[in-house]
Amino acid sequence: MNHFNLSFPKDFLWGGATAANQIEGAYNIGGKGLSVDDVLERINPKDRDKGLHLPFPSSTDIKEALENQESRHFPKRYGIDFYHRYKEDIALFKEMGFKTFRISIAWTRIFPNGIEAEPNEAGLAFYDDLLDELLYNDIQPIVTLSHYEMPLHLSMEYGGWTNRKVIDYFVRYAETVLDRYKKKVKYWITFNEINSILMSPFISGGILSDQVKDDHVLQATYQAAHHQFIASALAVEACHRLVPDGQIGCMVLGMINYPNSPHPEDVLAAFQDQHKTFFFTDVQVRGHYPAYMNRFFAEHGVRIETQPDDAAILQNNLVDFVSLSYYMSTVAARPETAGEQAAGNILTNMKNPYLSASDWGWQIDPVGLRTLLNMFYERYEKPLFIVENGLGAFDKVEEDGRIHDQYRINYLKQHIEQMKEAIGDGVELLGYTSWGPIDLVSFSTSEMSKRYGFIHVDLDDEGNGTLKRRRKDSFYWYKKVIASNGENL
Ligand code: BG6
Repeated sequence: MNHFNLSFPKDFLWGGATAANQIEGAYNIGGKGLSVDDVLERINPKDRDKGLHLPFPSSTDIKEALENQESRHFPKRYGIDFYHRYKEDIALFKEMGFKTFRISIAWTRIFPNGIEAEPNEAGLAFYDDLLDELLYNDIQPIVTLSHYEMPLHLSMEYGGWTNRKVIDYFVRYAETVLDRYKKKVKYWITFNEINSILMSPFISGGILSDQVKDDHVLQATYQAAHHQFIASALAVEACHRLVPDGQIGCMVLGMINYPNSPHPEDVLAAFQDQHKTFFFTDVQVRGHYPAYMNRFFAEHGVRIETQPDDAAILQNNLVDFVSLSYYMSTVAARPETAGEQAAGNILTNMKNPYLSASDWGWQIDPVGLRTLLNMFYERYEKPLFIVENGLGAFDKVEEDGRIHDQYRINYLKQHIEQMKEAIGDGVELLGYTSWGPIDLVSFSTSEMSKRYGFIHVDLDDEGNGTLKRRRKDSFYWYKKVIASNGENL
């Protein structure tokens, strides 16, 4: 009992993670319908340092976006053209030695408006080919069912996830793809960063600002979250029924909240902020709403409408693993002492004087990852999977075409070292897929200049470029990391 191990398990799943809406492009090809991502404009670079950028549009804003044909204002419509270039990109992942690759399926390729009785065969065939290409290259796919990709029709006509009917549409979609790809995909994830709905009602929940009754945004987002919990649990049930050996996990934006001082009320503030993450995993791992939410709901006037079977659906369909993204940590304080805010894409709070920050102001905290992994593992004793982590940074292409991204190597190295420490602490970790192994369109700002990749894509914020792929220095570094199973950092 006195042994501990500071190395990665033999079958550790190294790889990278992406989302359909940030890479595929081809937004109107192969029968695809419009999704909420296709109406998101790129941020004005002047607004970069103004904190969170998550849009909360009204129906009128969406109608204007649909009339706007200045297409390059909507970079997610074009992505990095992965739809046509995935073979070339997968060959590069193979060259790095990827064991796994996380994709998401665009719901709108399968059910263009979300409500059709029959799926779109062209969309299904596209993912068949993509999955076959991965398997042919010995890369195990991990598939997210919903990564901010709701059909726009469900948003505009149904009020997004506030409407209980959307559960049925989602389950039809989930069953279709689980059944179709059951022989090709073992690892599934239900909703990407399911806790993001609190900060991102439109992108995560398809909710438009003018659909919110009495401006009670919290009511709308928690009701939508409840519907996502039920939908997620039903997808778990379908996965266990349809996919032999299938493993299905929940996914949260992993954030650790430090108290600003040892003052007991700062500690309480940090503890309560931590619930913004834990609430979502508690429901999906333990199968019921945690007691601490009763008081929160009462004090904020939130009343969740449920149906008699809901409690049993949640309790009977627990996830097999917990997956998370991790980019940064944050600090909480009692209101009267709250200080300067840090930047981030979804959840953030105060600046931490002990940490440095990325080009976009996100606070870099590798040790926080070790602590957070321990917190999750102690709480649930379920396998964990880090399905996103990485550094969004400006890159420079030198005259000889090389890209010296030592800053990215440093960031990833420090985080992988802390993963090893967590494994030494006893955490069971299934794998690590760094975010955006190939440069892609930013989720929160729709920029290309915010790059995460080991592979550079020649494309700028205005949509100019040849789309040529180039290996960065980090490409060769990650290849060594994988070949040595995390020993050679
Ligand atoms: C996560 C999302 O929150 O962060 C990804 O799941 C996203 O979709 C990533 O791209 C990085 O955020 P951003 O805003 O820098 O693209």
